[in-house]
Amino acid sequence: MLLYNLSCTFVRLIMSKAVVKYFCKNCGHSASKWLGKCPACEAWNCFTEEVVQKSNNGSAKQLWGKSSQQKAEAKNIQSIVEGEEQRYNLTDNELNRVLGGGLVAGSITLIGGEPGIGKSTLLLQLALQMHKKVYYVSGEESETQLKMRAERIGIQNSDCYVICETSLSNLLTLLNGDLPELLIIDSVQTLSSELIDSPPGSISQIKECTAELLRFAKTTSIPVFLIGHINKDGNIAGPKVLEHMVDTVLQFEGDRHYNYRILRTLKNRFGSASEIGIYEMKGNGLRAIENPSEILISERDEVLSGISISCAVEGIRPILLETQALVSSAVYGTPQRTSNGFDLRRLSMLLAVLEKRCGFQLGVKDVFINIAGGMKLEDPGLDLGIVASILSSYQNIAIDKHIAFAGEVGLSGEVRAVARIEQRILEAEKLGFKAIMISKYNKGIQSNANKIELVQIGKIEEAFEYLFG
Ligand code: TYD
Ligand code: MG
Repeated sequence: MLLYNLSCTFVRLIMSKAVVKYFCKNCGHSASKWLGKCPACEAWNCFTEEVVQKSNNGSAKQLWGKSSQQKAEAKNIQSIVEGEEQRYNLTDNELNRVLGGGLVAGSITLIGGEPGIGKSTLLLQLALQMHKKVYYVSGEESETQLKMRAERIGIQNSDCYVICETSLSNLLTLLNGDLPELLIIDSVQTLSSELIDSPPGSISQIKECTAELLRFAKTTSIPVFLIGHINKDGNIAGPKVLEHMVDTVLQFEGDRHYNYRILRTLKNRFGSASEIGIYEMKGNGLRAIENPSEILISERDEVLSGISISCAVEGIRPILLETQALVSSAVYGTPQRTSNGFDLRRLSMLLAVLEKRCGFQLGVKDVFINIAGGMKLEDPGLDLGIVASILSSYQNIAIDKHIAFAGEVGLSGEVRAVARIEQRILEAEKLGFKAIMISKYNKGIQSNANKIELVQIGKIEEAFEYLFG
């Protein structure tokens, strides 16, 4: 099993310091010192430090035409035998789903997210629940802090080890003699390689450490999880190349004021990149939510205006959730438009459509939208539900709580077909809804196959007629 040969690392460690050069991220111009402005392309602030290997090979020009003992091999694609990648089934079903059906051996997965959202909790929980030898490397917390957290979550794995280490070479030395079955790094920004002068978390450190861990994962077939910090723009801190290097990029997100957390796939070499997993942060760790619709729809006896239930799809998963709207007369000169969980520009578009095509005087109204539970979704299928709740609040007439909505609204007020309509209908039916309003342009629905009533409409006016007419 011990295929992993660290000799190259040790040779490089013996070398005093690697040669460092600075490259322009924009045009690739190199310089021996950092420059604020690139003399070649004149872009500002684009120089990054890179380690340059000492090599006697000379330039690329000399390589071409030289007779070499080793040469690359060209294989006919038809002669390559397709192999099934080996997958581990994790105890966490949401994580399995997000990874595309389990964790692939030798894969490297990066999890990014805001501080305090629960990245460490998610992976420590995974380490504590699985029955495999796991190394949890933490550069952020002490052993006692980790123990306290582990006690909170509950320790079921007797083969889970913590390593409080920030030096990559110390870690690799340990791994050279003693291999785990899963390696977790919390976080990649705290690791540092002696080969590079710059401090931990800098672009070249992150790149170097990830490259080394990537080699480790690929040669040993041990899966690796990396936790990554995000910067103030919401992107994973470090070079973009980090996301290119790893196999899977997941994002852990949620509103800190709510307990729901969403694990979203941003990139996946082994499965769909539009999956989500939903968790609830509890006192004893994260709980996977298998059926999110049940918690996202509040139980209410009285019917209130401005509330509708939308049937959205995230990835391949239908989710029913409450969309709330409040339309009131604008107090100040410019009407306010505020939205939580729904794209503000899309809301402006829907309001313009309602005003221009259907004649509702919304231009003088304040409009507030809220998606219950702190969810943030981008499914265009939410449009119809949003429009219904706006109209309900505008008219001050409540919508029957047994009807759900799924449809996209176009610029001329037409209700357009949405993807995965069958699943949306089934989900609404499963949760006991009596009717679902959808576009009449959705093809291939067997209306007699469903117990739920299908209200098929082509325009917003028809929705208005049906609900309040
Ligand atoms: P943490 O996992 O440390 O987040 P990150 O690694 O993304 O920075 O943070 C978890 C937060 O969740 C922290 O504010 C405490 C809270 N928490 C719980 O509510 N329940 C728990 O069981 C644990 C372990 C943490
Ligand atoms: Mg953490």
